[in-house]
Amino acid sequence: MGFKTLCLGLFCISFLSYIYTPVPDNIEETWKVMALDAVAKTCTFMALCLENIGIMRYEDFISMIIRLDYIQPLSDEYVTVIDTAFVDIPVRLYLPKRKSEIPRRAVIYIHGGGFCFGSFKQRAFDFLNRWTAERLDAVVVGMDYRLAPEHHFPAQFEDGITLLKFFLQDEILAKYGVDPTRIAISGDSSGGTLAAALTQQVQIDPEVRHKIKLQALLYPGLQVIDSYVPSHRENEHGVVLTRDIAIKLVSLFFTKDEALPRAMRRNQHMPLESRPLFKFVNWSTLLPDKYRKNHVYSEPMLGRSAYSLPALMDSRASPLLASDAQLQNLPLTYVLTCQYDLLRDDGLMYASRLQNLGVQVAHEHVEDGIHGALSYMTSPLNLRIGLRIKDMYITWLDKNL
Ligand SMILES: *[C@@H]1O[C@H](CO)[C@@H](O)[C@H](O)[C@H]1NC(C)=O
Repeated sequence: MGFKTLCLGLFCISFLSYIYTPVPDNIEETWKVMALDAVAKTCTFMALCLENIGIMRYEDFISMIIRLDYIQPLSDEYVTVIDTAFVDIPVRLYLPKRKSEIPRRAVIYIHGGGFCFGSFKQRAFDFLNRWTAERLDAVVVGMDYRLAPEHHFPAQFEDGITLLKFFLQDEILAKYGVDPTRIAISGDSSGGTLAAALTQQVQIDPEVRHKIKLQALLYPGLQVIDSYVPSHRENEHGVVLTRDIAIKLVSLFFTKDEALPRAMRRNQHMPLESRPLFKFVNWSTLLPDKYRKNHVYSEPMLGRSAYSLPALMDSRASPLLASDAQLQNLPLTYVLTCQYDLLRDDGLMYASRLQNLGVQVAHEHVEDGIHGALSYMTSPLNLRIGLRIKDMYITWLDKNL
């Protein structure tokens, strides 16, 4: 009896210390954020337990929970909302009801979720897309894409290209009353990765006649070749998105091979021939002083793992790896970064590279921002930081699109 109680007590203590993350002082609504983090870490813990005892996979458990948050399309007095497909890519369209004398602006929105989870059906993305349509009097296309690990890279990118080639045709734009010169691509987190990769592609693709006016990247992930940049170090145990989880999701995006996450944890997952790419993610030159702080740069350790995965060197998965010549073609770009975000430095380095090349960049940094904040702006959390980020993004979009 005494022994069992002791074991239970020890288990509780180690579990609480596992899920407990100190939340930085300047984050508002501390209790909500701590509750969010505790729930996320408990779910992760349960998912990993179920995976280890062979009941279900980690990603199946997490998607089951995220699915509870999906909502049906619902029209209101301002917008008609419908679920349909472009070619075979599922989309949710938000079409303003008011008559318009002139063609409308359009926004293609790509949801985040580590390439493994999520949909435009999630409450927060549905809210954001509806809000965009109403505030901007714009046509909004929320797109889904095939998810990992059933579908590895580049399925997600290919779905995006299929959708863009379909939507950017004259007949289709005319059908929805869209102005071909005022189209944006936006995305958050892994949706930001896709938005950046797709924008790089459509700007040079001769098959796409209408180009994108601007891209908006909200706390995007933009590279996987260095898994130990300063924001990874500082947010290793960050709110919701920890380094372990990020590595697990990124690995599932590419392969089922367990050797990748193991090598990535040591930051030794890249082959020798990837050396020339490291100048594109050299945070010792690309990060402003303020973020570099006292972190010490060390040269990449290459060729330490037995396998080589070409996809890890592909700019469609890591838009930061595009050459200067490719980046020069980019349209006006909005980058939003959060201080307490594992992916922070990806956005900062992309903004630096684009600025150095003379691409027009608007960068906003949120000092008390956390990764994924937009996903928590609706009920039950109604997180203020998410609503604030939404307002920053929408204000910029309205002015510039
Ligand atoms: C990164 O930049 C530093 C200078 O700050 C330089 O010494 C180093 O060789 C660079 N490394 C790579 C891989 O580009």
